[in-house]
Amino acid sequence: MSAHPPLIDNKHSGETPDLPRLETIGVIGAGVMGVGLAHALAQSGLRTLLIDISDSILESALGQIRNNIRFQRLFHKNPGSGPEEILGRIKVSADYDILRNADFVIENVTEKLAVKTDVYRRLDQICPPQCIFAANTSAIPITRIGAMTRRPARVLGMHFMNPVPLKTAVEVIRGYHTSDDTIATAARLLNLMGKKPIVVGDSPGFVSNRVLMLTINEAIFLVQERVAPPEVVDDIFKNCFEHKMGPLETADLIGLDTILFSIEVLYDEFKDSKFRPCSLLRQMVDAGLHGRKSGRGFYSYED
Ligand SMILES: NC(=O)c1ccc[n+]([C@@H]2O[C@H](COP(=O)([O-])OP(=O)(O)OC[C@H]3O[C@@H](n4cnc5c(N)ncnc54)[C@H](O)[C@@H]3O)[C@@H](O)[C@H]2O)c1
Repeated sequence: MSAHPPLIDNKHSGETPDLPRLETIGVIGAGVMGVGLAHALAQSGLRTLLIDISDSILESALGQIRNNIRFQRLFHKNPGSGPEEILGRIKVSADYDILRNADFVIENVTEKLAVKTDVYRRLDQICPPQCIFAANTSAIPITRIGAMTRRPARVLGMHFMNPVPLKTAVEVIRGYHTSDDTIATAARLLNLMGKKPIVVGDSPGFVSNRVLMLTINEAIFLVQERVAPPEVVDDIFKNCFEHKMGPLETADLIGLDTILFSIEVLYDEFKDSKFRPCSLLRQMVDAGLHGRKSGRGFYSYED
């Protein structure tokens, strides 16, 4: 075996005829990302099994998906399937056993290594051996996640962006042992969802979050040091750089707890002080200001 991970390429069309079946897709975690992902998969006609730790979380997830479908239909000339048809393709459960026949699983649980380790051990026991596991992690190396299973060739990273139904490209991460077939099957799934894969190699935070998490953390330092309030920081990015959103609006959208956990992963992995989390970020997370999902972050979303 080569001492180096395989080369990266972006040529997978996903059209190889003998690739594995893609009918039943498991989605683990029904938070910000799991809700968007289950919606996007079911909207693409795929049978979707959505798992979380409690029935109340799953009930709330179904309610959010219903609202999001209704909202999306208001702005579409040709809105496609209605809420009942899309929701009819989603089965929710707090019991991992429903994944016994899953073809492909996308994991979106809390960005904590211990939580993910437990989830992958369970998935590895329950899911059929040919089932592929995609980690929608923000920063944890995919090679490490592959090592939690007995199928590292069938483990890859699929870093979806939020909100999933509206985003057109996905950062696909090849772990050390990830096979070409696994990458091709993931590309085929993304094609079914109308999304483009962009394949990169494995590194904590990959390409996207190694840059984005530092940017957001530094923006929070600017607020903490009173150089500028959040709306002025965001204004610079929106009006000077013409970005669609500023870094602090993006932080609120992602979830400040997820930002903190991700930058902690980067700090642990690189042991480089540039990734130390800003104390204002930690304080806001402790205070329950988690961004849009909690109603308050750098901005207020309460009615
Ligand atoms: N928020 C984003 O914009 C974003 C974008 C890309 C990737 N991610 C990554 O996606 C993952 C989920 O992030 P999120 O923002 O949806 O977080 P979240 O906190 O909104 O949701 C996480 C969900 O996982 C559930 N969960 C925890 N332990 C579980 C278990 N053992 N089994 C099943 N479910 C379990 C929680 O109950 C919760 O509903 C994280 O790894 C995060 O880094 C987030």
